[in-house]
Amino acid sequence: MRATRQRSFVRSESRVMSASLLVVLALLMPVDASSQTLARDSADLQVQVWAASCMACHGPEGRAEGTGLTIGGRPEQELLGKLLGYKSGKLPATIMHQHVKGYSDRELSRIAGYFASLK
Ligand code: HEC
Repeated sequence: MRATRQRSFVRSESRVMSASLLVVLALLMPVDASSQTLARDSADLQVQVWAASCMACHGPEGRAEGTGLTIGGRPEQELLGKLLGYKSGKLPATIMHQHVKGYSDRELSRIAGYFASLK
């Protein structure tokens, strides 16, 4: 009799434990989703900060009308090709070869993608 009661107690305890595990998982899921959003938001913010330094010469949103330096809204591959060309020294430059050396190729790709998205 005693043993039976003990066994059923163990069984119900494990049921309580799996129920609380579900609660914990349910609580963790939205936290995890929002931390992913946070990581994406701060990555977006990082690209915007980099791009802001370019806008000093290339104009707000990358549009420097009348100077020939408009980069906003141009195809990503074209922009990236120029940036990598400056970095390798293949393209002659007065200024850009210095700027691009501060960024990895991956970062330049993200910056090119950002300016291309400014349609
Ligand atoms: C101090 C001014 C200045 C800043 C800051 C600057 N650029 Fe430039 N950019 C130029 C100049 C000037 C050229 C023409 C090439 C040269 O002489 O260096 C140019 C050329 C370019 C070109 C090629 C444009 C074309 O039509 O051939 C791209 C793309 C470009 N820059 C992107 C950027 C990006 C991205 C940044 C920020 C990481 C940036 N630039 C920061 C002045 C600047």
